Amino acid sequence: MKAIQVGLIGLGTVGAGTFHVLQRNQAEIRGRAGRGIEIAMVAARSAERAKAYQAQVGDGVPCIGDPQQLVDNPDIDIVVELIGGIEPARSLVLKAIANGKHVVTANKALLALHGTEIFEAAREKGVVVAFEGAVAGGIPIIKALREGLTANRIEWIAGIINGTTNFILSEMRGKGLDFGVVLKEAQRLGYAESDPTFDIEGVDAAHKLTIMSAIAFGVPVQFDKAHVEGISALQATDIKYAEQLGYRIKLLGITRRRDNGIELRVHPTLIPSTRLIANVEGAMNAVVVQADAVGTTLYYGKGAGAEPTASAVVADLVDVTRLHTADPDHRVPHLAFQPDAMSNTPILPMADVQTAFYLRLVVADQAGVLSRITTILAEHDISIDAVLQRESAEGERQTDLIILTHDTVEGRMNEALAKMQGLPTVLAPIVKLRKEELA
Ligand code: HSE
Repeated sequence: MKAIQVGLIGLGTVGAGTFHVLQRNQAEIRGRAGRGIEIAMVAARSAERAKAYQAQVGDGVPCIGDPQQLVDNPDIDIVVELIGGIEPARSLVLKAIANGKHVVTANKALLALHGTEIFEAAREKGVVVAFEGAVAGGIPIIKALREGLTANRIEWIAGIINGTTNFILSEMRGKGLDFGVVLKEAQRLGYAESDPTFDIEGVDAAHKLTIMSAIAFGVPVQFDKAHVEGISALQATDIKYAEQLGYRIKLLGITRRRDNGIELRVHPTLIPSTRLIANVEGAMNAVVVQADAVGTTLYYGKGAGAEPTASAVVADLVDVTRLHTADPDHRVPHLAFQPDAMSNTPILPMADVQTAFYLRLVVADQAGVLSRITTILAEHDISIDAVLQRESAEGERQTDLIILTHDTVEGRMNEALAKMQGLPTVLAPIVKLRKEELA
């Protein structure tokens, strides 16, 4: 059978990785897919870049400077979009779908923001949009959630799904350094981009979490409802205190089913240092899924990089090739659930999220301070799990008070915090971090 014809838009890190993996493993890939998978054309966003791509891929594959031409080319069966960002990626993907082509993309921002529109267009046209590379790079987490765990009612997912921030947190903990110092080092080593905002402020992780949440719970992608908080305000002091109490701080994406809705949140989180996921260091990614039949499963691997992400992109290409001639009704639905079985369960506002807390208060070291603070917590029905007070140095008149609470509702914690912050003996803004046992 003739090889399936692929049009590749973008030959950056992941595009070049995809090209090389397809070339290197072509015999095995053909054996698995049932026919060859051939890159028939590469497109760049400018003629100049197309010229550079041509030098990379050699003369056998035409490189053009107009992606529109690629999505309109009747000889192309599958369009692989690897340019990232919203536009022109969104228009190109929609045009490829309208032209009856399958699409493979690793574009998490595009799917987290416009997934509903894109999946609906694909469904109407009877084509596949595959996106394994969009979440956690080389870890086959989409396949696991959508197919491997399909017997289960998923309860929650917690993931380290941004390698840049995990690298920074590992370095901060390991070397006792402040965020700013480590960020500069990460940029020098190429772990962080020159504009690291999306990574360090949690946006990239929230894109990925939004997609996983939709698949796990059968709800539409709703990035606008996600709580997004990064690590730029995190202080080395809190990493140190957390460690003394038996916890590590990780930037987690957490989505959890509750009776009244779905939690969808990215923020620095204390987790017990004995958990496997707490020991995921450097730029690695890991996702824990809690589901009713299987229990806890953990997925670990490289969440970024040329060949790890290409591994996911090529897996999608093989899937699409196998399904190319299948009846669209017999394919795995984009978000795991059939369109008429999707749910409108609301995403909960943060005030309704249930979690435990780590609080650090800088307080005057005098009689009655701790009791006033614990009284406020008791008045708000917030139960204390542990308290740590730094021993003051000789003559020092203030100290750090660390409190770990049991689970409560965030809105209630915020009310208690406002009261505590108003005490004259609380001398600085209170640090509030969330804590999850992941049990
Ligand atoms: N910048 C991401 C990370 C990889 O640091 O994990 C691509 O999403």
